Amino acid sequence: MDRRGSYRGKAQNTLRTTDGDKMAEVSIIGGTGLEELLEGVERVTVGTPYGFPPSISIGEVGGRKVAFLPRHGRRHTTPPHMVNYRANIYALHKIGVERIIATNAVGAINTDLRPGDLVVPHDLVDFTKGRVSTFYDRSPVTHIDFSKPYCPEIREILIEKAEEVGVRVWDRAVYVCTEGPRYETPAEIRMFKMLGCDIVGMTGVPEAVLARELEVCYATLCFVSNMAAGISGKVTSREVIEVSKRVIPEIKKVLIETIKHLPRRRSCPCAEALREAGG
Ligand code: HPA
Repeated sequence: MDRRGSYRGKAQNTLRTTDGDKMAEVSIIGGTGLEELLEGVERVTVGTPYGFPPSISIGEVGGRKVAFLPRHGRRHTTPPHMVNYRANIYALHKIGVERIIATNAVGAINTDLRPGDLVVPHDLVDFTKGRVSTFYDRSPVTHIDFSKPYCPEIREILIEKAEEVGVRVWDRAVYVCTEGPRYETPAEIRMFKMLGCDIVGMTGVPEAVLARELEVCYATLCFVSNMAAGISGKVTSREVIEVSKRVIPEIKKVLIETIKHLPRRRSCPCAEALREAGG
């Protein structure tokens, strides 16, 4: 069976503007403060078979059409384990997005990292428990290759632009995703360290998985908001929010430069993820 467009997992028709263009080609998923990156913003509400995501802002960055999706809702009311990840990713795919750049706050497990550092992970470990993590929950059985969970093309540009902007950036890291909403115990963090994980967060999975399942490129620009549990005292949301506010200007600069320098055509394997995914 031809999996391209034959299964309801992939949108059959891309939503287009009245002049026939895709509504957006790139998307940023993130928290508050990043929407200001876009010029000429319009808000759209996009229905999906999985429900409604938060309204999506569409605007321009350096002449590219960019969508911004606030992962936790417009007023930051949805906790990580309750985010409707399928609706979010499907809606972006439906409006034509081919590349997603996420931002995530993370705790540092690797003690070489420090709060305020940027990190572009190359691999991940999934310790979530109660999330729907696939679009392919019925026939045809579909197993995507996830040997490179993050788009290599976007990663390379993110790292290059972060270096040019002059921020401290780590070009490799293993991200572990926990279920939350509580922070981890010191014993859990010791276990993750033994498993080779460098950073911990609550939102990177299943986002990365779902994007790949729709052949949408996905990479993330993480920022260290705190040292993980048991490394230097308590983990507090106040610290996470304070560091987030501090790094927003740097993250914005890196995102703008990255988007401007994305090649028009993708040359990564993400676009062909379903080609050999039959079960
Ligand atoms: N653990 C999990 N998620 C997080 C953390 C953390 O320490 N910091 C920011 N998000």
